[in-house]
Amino acid sequence: MMLLGSPQALKSARPGEKGFKDQMTSRMVDGQRIRIMTRRTFLTAAGASVTAGLTQQGFPQKAPGNPLPRPSATQGRPLIVSTWPFGKPANERAREMYAQTGNGLDAIEAGIRLTESDISNASVGIGGIPNAQGVVQLDACIMAGPGHRAGSVAGIEDILHPISAARLVMEKTPHVMLVGDGARKFALEQGLESGDLLTPNQKQRWMEWVAAQRRTYQPEKPEDNHDTIAMVLMDEKGDLYGGCSTSGWGYKLPGRVGDSPIIGGGLYVDNEIGAAGATGLGENVMRYCGSFLVVEFMRQGMHPEEACVETIRRIAKLDPRPIHDLAINFLAINKKGEYGAAGSSSGFQYAITLPDQSRVLKSAALSNVNEIPLGGNRLTDDI
Ligand code: GLY
Repeated sequence: MMLLGSPQALKSARPGEKGFKDQMTSRMVDGQRIRIMTRRTFLTAAGASVTAGLTQQGFPQKAPGNPLPRPSATQGRPLIVSTWPFGKPANERAREMYAQTGNGLDAIEAGIRLTESDISNASVGIGGIPNAQGVVQLDACIMAGPGHRAGSVAGIEDILHPISAARLVMEKTPHVMLVGDGARKFALEQGLESGDLLTPNQKQRWMEWVAAQRRTYQPEKPEDNHDTIAMVLMDEKGDLYGGCSTSGWGYKLPGRVGDSPIIGGGLYVDNEIGAAGATGLGENVMRYCGSFLVVEFMRQGMHPEEACVETIRRIAKLDPRPIHDLAINFLAINKKGEYGAAGSSSGFQYAITLPDQSRVLKSAALSNVNEIPLGGNRLTDDI
């Protein structure tokens, strides 16, 4: 008997087969068509896209009247994939660094440092949204497939590049994670640059938020105010690397830590299988070991996009919230050079960069509620 969701079942459907179109809905957002996958489509579409040969150079090509195929395997290396449109310049910086050093960790660190330095980005590094006391506390982690190494910092203050602090934890200590003041002191001892992370614009917004809280308590919708950079890379040898960095939930309780510095939560790299990263509401990722789960689904043979979809479905099955309230997004790559992403709502975009090209793509979506600002949280008036 063929089990529903088994690799055999996944390979059993083709575009044009009875029921295929019924299983897929789509709609136009900003002039682009977004796929909304139903359960049955998810169970059948992977094999269809892989076998239909509808892609060129690894990027999805839409044929009129057909659903978008799953991204097929890329050949170029490094393959770099990261969250949101702001991931594209970060990927390109990572590619540049890789060209100089040939080192995947250098590339991940350099790419994420670019985003951390971008003052207009309201959710990563300097310019990030502060906590309820007006203090910017940052989370980051890094992983290297070879040796299964990891480093992480959480709730770190004053340090401009938490991704570099995470790498130093990995490379210079016997530990995996440092938090709070210990992480800050370690970073300073290691010579990392410090500075005031709270920009005048964010300070002003925070003061307005405090005033609004005094008038009437209006809890901030976290999905409206933070986005994370998660970046994964496969190098020319097929080794995998990843990193993640965020300022987290805006106006969070001081000391709150999200999924981004949690190995297996906001990021996971398994050098035999693939790598995955998350963005969105960390509380809804870390309770389910989200990125670890994506990698485990890839271990079972799922395409990266399908693994992201199935992870969100698993979380939605267990979670009391409706799927469109989860505000979670995943991306992943596997050892074959396949990549993909999915969001609990429509609107999640991710960036893919190869030696000769760089693009922003829309992810698969598990509901058609667009609660996430397209393009992530970019405060252009903060520049
Ligand atoms: N995903 C980032 C956070 O929730 O902090």
